[in-house]
Amino acid sequence: MCRPLSLLGLFLILTPLLCGCTDGGFSVELIHRDSPRSPFHDPSLTPRARLLAAVRRSYAGSDSSDTDGAVSEVISGTFQFFMYVNVGTPRTRMLALVDTGSDLVWLRCTNGSASPAAAGGTSSVFDISSSSTYGRVGCQSDSCHSVHGTSCDATSFCQYSYSYVGGSNSSGLVATETFTFDDAPGGCTGCRERRQLQVPRVNFGCATTANFPGYGIVGLSDGKSSLINQMSAATSLGRRFSYCLTPYLSDVSSALNFGSRATVTEPGAVTTPMVHSPVHVEAFYTVEIVALRVGSSIIKPPKRSPVIVDSGSLLTSLDKELLDPIVEALTGSIKLPRKPPPSPNPELFSVCYEADGMKALEKVFPDVTLELGGGALLTLKAENLFMDLLLRTVCLAVVPVTYEGSVPTIGSIMQQNMHVGYDLDKRTITFAPADCATSYPSPPALCCVAI
Ligand SMILES: *[C@@H]1O[C@H](CO)[C@@H](O)[C@H](O)[C@H]1NC(C)=O
Ligand SMILES: *[C@@H]1O[C@H](CO)[C@@H](O)[C@H](O)[C@H]1NC(C)=O
Repeated sequence: MCRPLSLLGLFLILTPLLCGCTDGGFSVELIHRDSPRSPFHDPSLTPRARLLAAVRRSYAGSDSSDTDGAVSEVISGTFQFFMYVNVGTPRTRMLALVDTGSDLVWLRCTNGSASPAAAGGTSSVFDISSSSTYGRVGCQSDSCHSVHGTSCDATSFCQYSYSYVGGSNSSGLVATETFTFDDAPGGCTGCRERRQLQVPRVNFGCATTANFPGYGIVGLSDGKSSLINQMSAATSLGRRFSYCLTPYLSDVSSALNFGSRATVTEPGAVTTPMVHSPVHVEAFYTVEIVALRVGSSIIKPPKRSPVIVDSGSLLTSLDKELLDPIVEALTGSIKLPRKPPPSPNPELFSVCYEADGMKALEKVFPDVTLELGGGALLTLKAENLFMDLLLRTVCLAVVPVTYEGSVPTIGSIMQQNMHVGYDLDKRTITFAPADCATSYPSPPALCCVAI
């Protein structure tokens, strides 16, 4: 039963005293692009069909005829998760893509001509004329210099222009605003109200033109202007974040954590150092693959094997010299009937098996361990390596690095049901097995919490 309304006023006053909020962290909902909670959700597709469509989007060029509404091929392959941000005073709620591989935070902006917020109170554009905390940034300021590729506009304000791999871009003015983040419902023990974290004077790109299939981006790289670095400068949260990704076919949201909640403490946690990125984009969080063990076989890469850890990529991609022996070891030990790979891009899938879902595969799955730098031994389950792609067909979710400009990447499927923590000060990434379905309390929020 719900708390009587008459107590609410009292409760609000008492909340700071009664909540177990000593942890100094907060969590936001991480919404998968294809989930029912996303504006890009396609209810006409079955979950498996959505997964297959997502695989195809990831490999632009392998199926360029797949036109997909508002989301272009290129960008949707590299971005998968959204979070809500509240910008300005009063707050405008917007859904932005989360990108660990870029630094800038930007949102679509307008000056005085915003259309009303859609159902659910979410806006597709931020109207700067409606906010009392909007500030412009001079083009000679440190704030301006902290963003890449800025210049002076005709009136000496700071303007930016950003392009992303694949041709998307965003440009406009660099501005400052108050950003407010809602903590997860029940994020602290005993709290009925959702806590909020307010970060004033965040530098962000106020996009007046954006050739981009979304409302904005929250950059979480280690660049100066990324949200994580700006937030740690303004709060005591520290330079760390973590996420726990629910399996693709799950409708339950994942969690993105900041502050102390980003510390990975689950049993079985393993930590690996970040290394230099193999690509010129230093923004990517990169670790090193030392070996992969399948049962008793140990497969070592023939050369140094840096790999990007990226929640924005679906599949894991590896150099062929490493992938081929891995496939050989897996096929040598998994005794299930093979199935032909799904069309129209069979070349992507080296191995498919007949199995009635992931549980059936798990029963015959060998011990697989990924060894990362620093002696981190990460156990991989069937759900980290395979995907339930067609009825009674599971396929290896690790593909060769083929298309131009791509680099070896640990994608989101391999990170499913793991708590993955990035510590930018220690320069480490920590992985621990976790049940991510419980990591973000699903709405409706806790109704009645005993105090
Ligand atoms: C927004 O529009 C108002 C009214 O036209 C103008 O005074 C203001 O300078 C504009 N703000 C920006 C940042 O362009
Ligand atoms: C942004 O992309 C569009 C479409 O590809 C292109 O026409 C435009 O020139 C690009 N703008 C910048 C600043 O790169």
